[in-house]
Formats: sequence, C-alpha cells, structure tokens
Amino acid sequence: ASTAATSVSISGDISSQLHGGYSHPLARAWQAERQLTKSMLIYPLFISDIADEETLIPSLPNQHRRGLNKLVAHLTPLVAKGLRSVILFGVPTAAGIKDALGTAADDPKGPVMRALRLLRRHFPDLFLVADVCLCEYTSHGHCGILREDGSLNNGLSVDRISDVAMAYAEAGAHCVAPSDMNDGRIRAIKLKLIEAGVAHKVVLMSYSAKFSGCLYGPFRDAAGSCPSFGDRKCYQLPPGGRGLARRAISRDIQEGADIIMVKPASSYLDIISDAKEIGENMPVAAYQVSGEFAMIHAGAKAGVFDLKTMAFESTEGILRAGASIVVSYFTPDFLDWLSS
Ligand code: PBG
Ligand code: ZN
Repeated sequence: ASTAATSVSISGDISSQLHGGYSHPLARAWQAERQLTKSMLIYPLFISDIADEETLIPSLPNQHRRGLNKLVAHLTPLVAKGLRSVILFGVPTAAGIKDALGTAADDPKGPVMRALRLLRRHFPDLFLVADVCLCEYTSHGHCGILREDGSLNNGLSVDRISDVAMAYAEAGAHCVAPSDMNDGRIRAIKLKLIEAGVAHKVVLMSYSAKFSGCLYGPFRDAAGSCPSFGDRKCYQLPPGGRGLARRAISRDIQEGADIIMVKPASSYLDIISDAKEIGENMPVAAYQVSGEFAMIHAGAKAGVFDLKTMAFESTEGILRAGASIVVSYFTPDFLDWLSS
C-alpha cells in the first residue's frame, strides 16, 4: 500500500471530505433541491391604455409600458423561447380616468380587460395572471376605497376588489392575484368565484406576505400608482413583522388561496421559508420586485458583479428558501440564459 494515502484511511475519518461531491459542474447543480426552469417564471407586463405606446421605463432597465397594439409583437418571440406566464398591470393614462372607487379597473374597455381577451386569443397556451388592485386606478393612489379621514374602508374595498377579480376571471385570466392587502379579500374572491361557477378553473394567488418598504419605487413610476398622500404602511406589512407574515399566510390559506406569494423576495428569504413550511402542500411564489431588479442592474453597471451571474445567484437563493414560482423582470433574459 502507498504510504501517502495511509493517514486518512488509517484514521478512518471520512466525515470531513465534501469536495468530491461537488467538483463537477453537474454534481454542483445536483446539490440544489430545485433548479430554475422556464416554467417557474412569471413575467410582469405594464399595459397602457394608449394603444400604440411603447415607452421605456427609466428606473426599470429594459422594461416598457406597452399599449395593446404592441403586445403581440413583443410576446411572440418570448413565447417561442419558452415563456409560459405573464402577470398584467394596467396603466390608465387618459385624463380624468382615475376616481375614488377605481372604476376604471374593470372597465371592459380598459387595458387589462382588453389585454386578457387579446392574449387568450393569440397565445392559447400562455398562462395569464391578472394582478388585482385599485391603486393604479384610484385618484388617491391607495390600494382600496378610503373613508373621509383617509383611512382604508376595508368592507367597501373588499367588495370592490372581489368584483374586479371576477371581471378579470371572466375576461380570461387563468389566475387572479390580489395585491391590495385588505383583510378578508381572499375569502370574498373565492366565494364569488364559487358563486359564478368558475372556482374550479381559476387559480387564486394571494400576495399574502407583502411588505411595505422602498423597493416598489420603479414599479410605481412604471404604473403611475404612487399614493398622493400618506403611505401603504397601514395595509402592507412592517419589514420586521415575521410573526404577522406567518399569520397572514395561515389566514389566506384558510380563506381559500391556491398559491401564497411573498414580496419582495431577496430581503425576505426567511418569510419564503416560513411560507413553504406553513403552506407545505401548496406552491409558494416570490416576487423579485422592481427595486431588487433595478438594484442588480445598478450593481452590475457599477462593476460590482456580472449581471447574469448575480441574476442567477439571487434567484437560486429564492428557490432555495422554498419558492417554486418566481415573478421576475429578468424573465426574458432567463429565457435566453436557460436555452444556452
Ligand atoms: C400594486 C402592486 C405593487 C407591486 C405589485 N402590485 C406596488 C405597490 O404595492 O406599491 C410592486 C411590484 C414591483 O415593485 O415590482 N398593489
Ligand atoms: Zn395596490
């Protein structure tokens, strides 16, 4: 026997030997419980009511606000590369279109309602998620209907938001995703879906653990949904509120959610992991929000890291924490990166 090998084998201590298990790139990939695939991705789209609009959003690199006439051409190559799902946000721009009740949200001629019908027709295999909220459509920019004193009227908000969700489902959304954070909206939407006889074919994805903070800025630029006074702290969760998030997740599961979402993603990996534990029998989604996306772009531009490497690294963290669905502005990039 060779003497060089004896010290390890004679001592019998093999517990410290890990390198062999991940020396090959494929063996390294096998260390992950879940690897990113195209079908995990949902791509956010901002749909303007100006049919021919195609405007770059300055704070959201490579992302545009698009009108109906620009959607099919934009999505055709992405669908060919394996795009499976989009989430729609409406951007009403017409003068006087916003009011205290967010009436434009479910206007049959509004951008989201039209886009749902158009995309269902053009891309029969594309899974359509409709974000359900009022903030893009209210004159005050809040996510519900307000009382005289400016606080949220939860009852009226839930009635209204569940009506909007129903309208989107009827227009062709495969999934409705309320992001407003009003109490009891999941139950209200589920009951209306059941009553309308469509609960068996519409996924209800709840933004259950949606935290308030500064990472939604570029989105609010894109959607024109910045509150005109105050902030969203009385309905979005405080960043330190892990227990509150756990309660919100349990509550939404009991109220009939099919998918639980955590948002933002990378600063809230413990919450994603909690969501997977509490909702062990359902899929967990994570929204890598506009501020996270812009931050990664800014870091890459400043030479801190390589864009693609960081995009993968952040997404791997999100999957490792427990998500199996990722809403991401990187989706078009991932379709390319995952093909090569
Ligand atoms: C609307 C909504 C927001 C986002 C998704 N739905 C903004 C907000 O709550 O202010 C944020 C998405 C992003 O930042 O990318 N309720
Ligand atoms: Zn909102």
